Amino acid sequence: PMKIIIDTDPGQDDAVAILLALASPEIEVMGITAVAGNVPLSMTEVNARKVCELAGRPDVAVFAGCDAPMTRPLVTAEHVHGKTGLDGYDLPEPSMPLQDMHAVDWIIETLRTEAPGTVTLCPLGPLTNIGTALDRAPDIADRIARIVLMGGAYFEVGNITPAAEFNIYVDPEAAQIVFRSGVPLTVLPLDCTHKALTTRARNAAFAAAGRIGEVVAGWTGFFERFDKEKYGSEGAPLHDPCVIAWLLRPDLFRGREVNVEIEAQSDLTRGMTVADWWGVTDRAANALFIGEVDADGFFQMLTDRLARL
Ligand code: BDR
Ligand code: CA
Repeated sequence: PMKIIIDTDPGQDDAVAILLALASPEIEVMGITAVAGNVPLSMTEVNARKVCELAGRPDVAVFAGCDAPMTRPLVTAEHVHGKTGLDGYDLPEPSMPLQDMHAVDWIIETLRTEAPGTVTLCPLGPLTNIGTALDRAPDIADRIARIVLMGGAYFEVGNITPAAEFNIYVDPEAAQIVFRSGVPLTVLPLDCTHKALTTRARNAAFAAAGRIGEVVAGWTGFFERFDKEKYGSEGAPLHDPCVIAWLLRPDLFRGREVNVEIEAQSDLTRGMTVADWWGVTDRAANALFIGEVDADGFFQMLTDRLARL
């Protein structure tokens, strides 16, 4: 199986991504590293453990990482995810342990120990843990097989400011390190994830997919209310599971190899992913930037796999 590290700030959609990975025999989750993002670190690390226990996997190693961006105060997203980050279905407090080691130290140690080119990183939140690891241990860059991340936007522009997507906005300095690292990148931006929308029929399919499907339907039901009330849309984008789905079924997605630079300075556009979609510069491509997903195929796979857990 493909070895991955999930770096995450759960978040209902992060939780669904973790469940999809744990439900997939093609993937070995080496560990989960929590970061501050949607809610503070004290909650994201607990949420990660709750989700592992829900999946019947208390053996998964969960590490706590950075509690604030590399150089800025933390911005959170309770307005979307609720106070706990996992509002919509209450899970019991976890009894599995949190690992002692700091997530950044564990990421560095793991990449130095495993054979080069065998570990894929899957960041689903702000890039603080990964940026800090690359900054502290530049030698790991050559050892990472690929970084497959949810973040950024091109045509869809922003969701936390008019210009920026949340994960990149929260820690643009960390994102800049990642995008300049030379590691092969796959980026699942809003352009893709805004096409993976929950609908009544898709939520009903989750709810019918066993105990875990019911939990997921509870979360998506909550997560949706923000988009429904604010934009009158039918459902909500299931952002982070797109990362795991791309690993499993890249044929469901379409994108382009482009150059992506991160704006970290401007007050107006901080966190913007400046993607050279039309190839108007001579900057070398550094990312596969995904623009399309077969949403029906994506939801079908997700529901089937959750039902198997
Ligand atoms: C991203 O921000 C978070 O709110 C979601 O979990 C996702 O990772 C979408 O912009
Ligand atoms: Ca997330």
